[in-house]
Amino acid sequence: MSFITNLTHKSWTSMKMRFSKSNPEKKLFTPGPLVCSQSVKEAMLRDLGSRDGEFINVVKLVRQKLLDIAEVSPEEFTAVLLQGCGTYAVEAVFQTCTPRHGGRALILANGAYGKRMKKICDTCGIPSDMFEFPEDGIVDVAKVKELLEKGVQYALVAVVHCETSTGSINPVEELGQTIKQYQPQAAYLVDAMSSFGAVPVKIQNGQIDYLVSSANKCLQGVPGFSYVIARKSELFKCRGNSRSLSLDLADQYEGFEGNGQFRFTPPTHTLLGFLQALQEFQEEGGVNGRAKRYKQNCTVLQRGMEELGFCKLLSRECGGYIITTYHYPNHPNFNFEEFYCKLCQLGQLIYPGKLSNANCFRIGNIGDLYPSDMKYLLKCIGKVLDAMDVPVPVPVPAPICLCVA
Ligand SMILES: Cc1ncc(COP(=O)(O)O)c(C=O)c1O
Repeated sequence: MSFITNLTHKSWTSMKMRFSKSNPEKKLFTPGPLVCSQSVKEAMLRDLGSRDGEFINVVKLVRQKLLDIAEVSPEEFTAVLLQGCGTYAVEAVFQTCTPRHGGRALILANGAYGKRMKKICDTCGIPSDMFEFPEDGIVDVAKVKELLEKGVQYALVAVVHCETSTGSINPVEELGQTIKQYQPQAAYLVDAMSSFGAVPVKIQNGQIDYLVSSANKCLQGVPGFSYVIARKSELFKCRGNSRSLSLDLADQYEGFEGNGQFRFTPPTHTLLGFLQALQEFQEEGGVNGRAKRYKQNCTVLQRGMEELGFCKLLSRECGGYIITTYHYPNHPNFNFEEFYCKLCQLGQLIYPGKLSNANCFRIGNIGDLYPSDMKYLLKCIGKVLDAMDVPVPVPVPAPICLCVA
């Protein structure tokens, strides 16, 4: 008999209690999953059916509110929700919005999430080119213009707004204007996963056709679904393109418009949590209110880390206020695994780096986090450095070149 089937209800309950006692609440300084408010979690303590009128109304409301936040009209745009994490929605756009024959995609990449788009295309057999920029900078509009002038015709051009692998913010509005000037036939996809709701983007001004994000980012819901703000006139051209049934965005849209339902089992609890999260978003003052708090969090973090001697990867011009990347200190006693684990024991979860050729770690400040949380994290970092016998201010590493080969 297996370990699980052998457990009585009593021993299972006592194991769970011991587990939660030894693992108290943690603060997540990561780009997701991230800390959600108690009220968002409590809003999920109900069961609704997928065909239940109440649930269908929740879906309708969420779709409308997403368009309001994006500041686009329901005549021109629609919000398509999709079960699964953010990558599902990015992949759904590539699947749906590149024609089966002859549709080529261009990816403008300056980090891991741009590169993931290339991997999506390669996996799905979508012909694509990736134009790479250094990871410690932003996508250069002038260079993109030169490339687009060369005349390869693209069906889709894609870029990440906040490249969460570093925290850099790409100029998506300027890029969109350039793309549409030189390649008006191309649809324009912006992955705004870690920025939507906290870093303003003018979809109309940037001529964006598809903007992707997910529930558990700056709108502070729990993980479980992603969404695409899609220009209807573009989406309507894409019927029948997708090589995947579950990731067919056009079909998913038809489902919502037909009977208001998800085509397949919906994440009902996640949607209930998200509706509450949207109310809290509104109460905080929408995009401006959320941006204000995240900027405060980021300022406290960056000042404190500077005092501890840590060195940021990005210059002020490239970095936003979502997540900050730091170089490892140049000291033999510093070991990231140990640093991470010791912080974790104090209930503070940070994030490893995601760079191709530099030793870095990341600290996010999005989610239900406040300046007092950032101050406490800094205190814990000081304690852990002391325990590891790493002197403060920490010795800085020699500069590293992150140029594209
Ligand atoms: C910019 C960006 N794109 C894509 C993703 C992938 O999202 P997920 O991990 O939800 O699939 C992330 C995740 O943090 C991200 O930050």
